[in-house]
Amino acid sequence: MMTAMPEPVSLPQHHDRILILDFGSQVTQLIARRVRESGVYCEIWPFNQAGAERIKAYAPKGIVLSGGPCSVTDKDSPRAPQEIFDMNLPLFGICYGQQTMVTQLGGKVEKGDTREFGRAYVDVKEHNTLLEGVWDKGAHEQVWMSHGDRVSALPDGFRIVGASEGAPYAMIADDARKFYAVQFHPEVVHTPHGAALLKNFTHNVCGCGGDWTMAAFREEAIEKIRAQVGTGKVICGLSGGVDSSVTAVLLHEAIGDQLHCIYVDTGMMRAGESEQVVALFRDHYNIPLIHEDAGERFLNGLEGVSDPEMKRKIIGGLFIDVFEDCAKRIGGADFLAQGTLYPDVIESVSFTGGPSVTIKSHHNVGGLPERMNLKLVEPLRELFKDEVRALGVELGMHPDFVGRHPFPGPGLAIRIPGEITGEKLEILRKADTIYLEEIRGAGLYDAIWQAFAVLLPVRTVGVMGDERSYDYVCALRAVTSTDGMTADYYHFDHDFLSRVSTRIINEVRGINRVVYDITSKPPGTIEWE
Ligand code: XMP
Repeated sequence: MMTAMPEPVSLPQHHDRILILDFGSQVTQLIARRVRESGVYCEIWPFNQAGAERIKAYAPKGIVLSGGPCSVTDKDSPRAPQEIFDMNLPLFGICYGQQTMVTQLGGKVEKGDTREFGRAYVDVKEHNTLLEGVWDKGAHEQVWMSHGDRVSALPDGFRIVGASEGAPYAMIADDARKFYAVQFHPEVVHTPHGAALLKNFTHNVCGCGGDWTMAAFREEAIEKIRAQVGTGKVICGLSGGVDSSVTAVLLHEAIGDQLHCIYVDTGMMRAGESEQVVALFRDHYNIPLIHEDAGERFLNGLEGVSDPEMKRKIIGGLFIDVFEDCAKRIGGADFLAQGTLYPDVIESVSFTGGPSVTIKSHHNVGGLPERMNLKLVEPLRELFKDEVRALGVELGMHPDFVGRHPFPGPGLAIRIPGEITGEKLEILRKADTIYLEEIRGAGLYDAIWQAFAVLLPVRTVGVMGDERSYDYVCALRAVTSTDGMTADYYHFDHDFLSRVSTRIINEVRGINRVVYDITSKPPGTIEWE
């Protein structure tokens, strides 16, 4: 299924840029991240939405063809627009991208007898621009493979640069036309020098200058915001998270007091969180801010509700009501600022034939712009999360603040399975604070993608002193991840877990048992609800 075209990301006309044609690989976004890390702007387009005219208008300095799940040997499998081979542009094919490049230029691809999956080694046969300063002739280098098909005959003009056991054409090149292709995935960390190869492509082969920096982005974004907003009034909902915070600080730099921030305290926040947000924005940045304490309203709305989806819907609905009330109080607005990021706007290629199942409906302010007749300002639409963090630092925000773990919109409500009460929220806040204090104290915060405590609706028997106790169970969760789509549980050492468990049980009344969640995603999700 092809999703509808979203609004185009604005073209940064004065930056060198690369185009990535997506054939549906799980890791296409990583290609974009590696290219951006090399200081080069790039966009991802589905292979079938990239007509020659659109590409010419975008004027890339090179094109990367991504991997994908199809086989070029199948009828009707995807192809790159044939025109790209005549545009006099450098090309870099990766996995499926290599295979379609070879097929479209007259070479051959065959179904392999054996699949090559995971770590493999490439023997470098020849020197090449793509390998400059990275791999020498004769080297034996680790790469990451994931393929069944493989190239079996080269098109005219190509030669072999490297070979692996399962892929005799693991790296190929036509230097005259600046066409390069690899069977392995240079974009994943398991190809240790992959990022350097991609950088050689963008810089040495395509001649990009590395002008994509957050300092440059900041200047341009400010100009763009001013041009879009004029003298209009903008409201921005702060959640305390990194995206909305960076959006607000950037907007404030662009339009000063035309920006009004609204922070809806749902009562589902962690200990001290609301105070921190208010202090940062009102006192430190001097940004006009409404701090709406709506804890009672949310707690009442959630009374007796245990179903996770119902919780999300109730919180989402109430959030919009409260936000709208606050906006009316400041006399309405013309624009709503949102911290939408690039991964939210990338058009996706999916070959599964249907929309993916909604596992959890995410709480956001969907529907608000229409309801309040607001135009959107989304200054982070071109950025990946790590770029947003770098922009935050560029804007003078503290690295600890921009490096904070993600926190879900519905907050602690989805970390208390079953009915939520004020008492349970208090217990969870205390346990969560201790857990995070210990993680920070052990210097582990940045190694973990997200860590939190969950209060289970189960009471178990314990013994404290000479007394029998009958209290709640607290589950601890910590995961590593790159984007929240997949995750592995964090492997704490046992001393650490014992320390946290002892502290929680001794210091938090209401909890007498602590367990650690060792589920990956999939099959689990990161949150418990
Ligand atoms: P799951 O639990 O789906 O979470 O594996 C993936 C990431 O998304 C966050 N999350 C949410 N964020 N509203 C949000 O803004 C939500 O309703 C929501 N549910 C999950 C979660 O914290 C994790 O980072």
